[in-house]
Amino acid sequence: MRKIIIGILMLSLFLTGCGNTEMASNPLPEDAFWTIAHRGASAYAPENTLASYDLAEEMEADYIELDIHLTKDGEIVIMHDEDVERTTEGTGYIADYTLSELKELSADFQFEDKEETIYRVPTLAEVFDQFGDEIHYFIELKDSDKDEGIEEALIDLLEQYDMIGTAKDGKPRTVVHSFSEKRLQRVHELNQKIPLVKLISFKDEKFPELTQHEVDDILKYGAGIAINYEFLDRTVIKQMHEEGLLVYATAVQDAEAALHMKEIGANGIYTNRPDLLENGEAE
Ligand code: G3P
Ligand code: CA
Repeated sequence: MRKIIIGILMLSLFLTGCGNTEMASNPLPEDAFWTIAHRGASAYAPENTLASYDLAEEMEADYIELDIHLTKDGEIVIMHDEDVERTTEGTGYIADYTLSELKELSADFQFEDKEETIYRVPTLAEVFDQFGDEIHYFIELKDSDKDEGIEEALIDLLEQYDMIGTAKDGKPRTVVHSFSEKRLQRVHELNQKIPLVKLISFKDEKFPELTQHEVDDILKYGAGIAINYEFLDRTVIKQMHEEGLLVYATAVQDAEAALHMKEIGANGIYTNRPDLLENGEAE
């Protein structure tokens, strides 16, 4: 009798588990189409600066996309590359600068149309201080071996600024994305409330078909994938949706491509020009 009761209990626990899996909904809203300002409105202002985020907010982007690294003294700063050489006049790695040393550099080195203003490398805290809940954040963890412990530092800061969870407008305040499965898995281990998007890299000129095994791996932590828009069509997007992954199109820089992505069911676009659907270029 005891064995039968234990058996029934185990079966009901198993069925409850299955039920939860089936009922679990994607933490990212499926019917939304977001404009994600890539490194801010980086076609119009130096990438990853307060100025490029300011413009993105003015242009009513849904999200700003930003790349983060750790300084020598453990501050989270925003810069695409792990070294300072492309975007500032300095040399060497971010990891070898303290925050105050980094603040001496200008962050607009590569930007041609700049004005007299000197742009500085922002910290993530400064961005949260300035924009708060007015805009939302796609934060990229780079695949760099110089940022050890950045996942913990990021989650601490997100908690401190109350940036995890749903904002008043129903969108997640923060989404974390990365090419690095390891970093996304680490974030997932630390906090399951942050929606995660896996950036998919490609080498050939066609959609890098994901094996069922790869899709299943992403589904263990991720809510979506992001990939260059040229590899996306209705069929690929439908397949990914059926698997339970939302699909974001990267590197969309003109209105025609943006509208096409929307029409074939993508869930959003990453663009350097967050005003591209406003200026009627596709009409
Ligand atoms: O385009 C998506 C993106 O954020 C990943 O690429 O090099 O711009 O950080 P990257
Ligand atoms: Ca990025």
